[in-house]
Amino acid sequence: MRYLVTGGAGFIGSNFIRFLFNKYGSDASVVNLDKLTYAGIRENLAEYEEKPNYRFLQGDIAKPEDVAEAYKGIDGGGIDVVVNFAAETHVDRSLMEAGSFIETDVHGVLVLLEEAKKHAPELKRFIQISTDEVYGSIAEGSFTESDPLNPRNPYSASKAGGDRMAYAYAQTYGMPVIITRASNNYGPFQYPEKLIPLFVTNAIDDQPLPLYGDGGNIRDWLFVEDHCAAVDFLIEHGTNSETYNIGGGNERENREITHRILQLLGKPESLIKRVADRVGHDRRYSVDTTKLERLGFKMTTDFDAALERTVQWYTAHEPWWRAIKERSAEFKAYYEKQYAGR
Ligand code: NAD
Ligand code: TYD
Repeated sequence: MRYLVTGGAGFIGSNFIRFLFNKYGSDASVVNLDKLTYAGIRENLAEYEEKPNYRFLQGDIAKPEDVAEAYKGIDGGGIDVVVNFAAETHVDRSLMEAGSFIETDVHGVLVLLEEAKKHAPELKRFIQISTDEVYGSIAEGSFTESDPLNPRNPYSASKAGGDRMAYAYAQTYGMPVIITRASNNYGPFQYPEKLIPLFVTNAIDDQPLPLYGDGGNIRDWLFVEDHCAAVDFLIEHGTNSETYNIGGGNERENREITHRILQLLGKPESLIKRVADRVGHDRRYSVDTTKLERLGFKMTTDFDAALERTVQWYTAHEPWWRAIKERSAEFKAYYEKQYAGR
């Protein structure tokens, strides 16, 4: 299978490419189209750079010429499957500046779909990686795929735009589109601006853990390797034009996650610093995953074990995250703006 993976230098995209090579070896070829924004780290996949079945292409999904080049595949061989992970992804950043979110998460999806349309006869799948955040917050119960969308922040509104644009191309042009809506991922290579890697790395350095509001917000945690396995499963077994929720089945309050991280690292609770809440902070995300399970997919990972593995990964890979937290001027400026005086 010949894959075009966009955003493959980011957290989930790089895990997905590694998953493909581990599972399919030389039967998979991958073009990784990534703009290398602040969140893109090409070295995440350094071990594949010399392989003939891997091609890294620095480019923007919102630029037709970059996308056209990527669809050529490796040595002009073409593409069978597109998996679009490329996005601006951090809610807090979308509260500071939302224009780049619209440009990549909405317009970029349109450009990718337009080019896909030209390759429609040979293209087998176009997977649009959406998010459970497009449904908005839910106090009780879980959202199913047919529930209305109610995004409540600029990030999730942009993702909803991309999600519906992909659906529009499936309906209008008969494109082989599948949309996935996954819950919060955690695992190796997650950029240390998100809750789990930020708190783990701050705790290692005895720095405060800035917990928003009362810490009672709930997310459903999905181990990144389970997410990759679910996307791979849907490429094979999903139905075009359908949307699938991908949840971890691990709903936890943020304060519970925080306590567990401190416990795993043997650090004191006094590191927790309650800070002003995120504006418009969604209280709880929860998705019903019956549709995916009925197809035959089962989550395999135990949450406590995978969180421990994740903490161990950050402990063992200090150079990886210190390069970001200590040497990236962009990260330092963001951290200062986001947390100073909060
Ligand atoms: P990330 O921020 O770690 O990585 C995003 C990657 O996309 C980076 O490598 C970046 O350089 C690249 N990128 C950004 N704009 C681009 C553009 N215009 N053209 C090409 N590349 C571009 O994100 P992630 O956490 O790995 O998320 C991947 C996808 O999964 C996103 O679409 C996100 O909305 C979705 N998602 C994430 C989660 C989560 O918990 N992280 C949950 C559900 C869905
Ligand atoms: P985050 O990892 O940013 O993912 P999302 O907002 O997309 O769910 O945040 C997860 C939860 O953790 C969310 O409820 C906000 C909270 N949070 C904090 O309390 N402090 C922080 O510094 C961060 C980054 C997040």
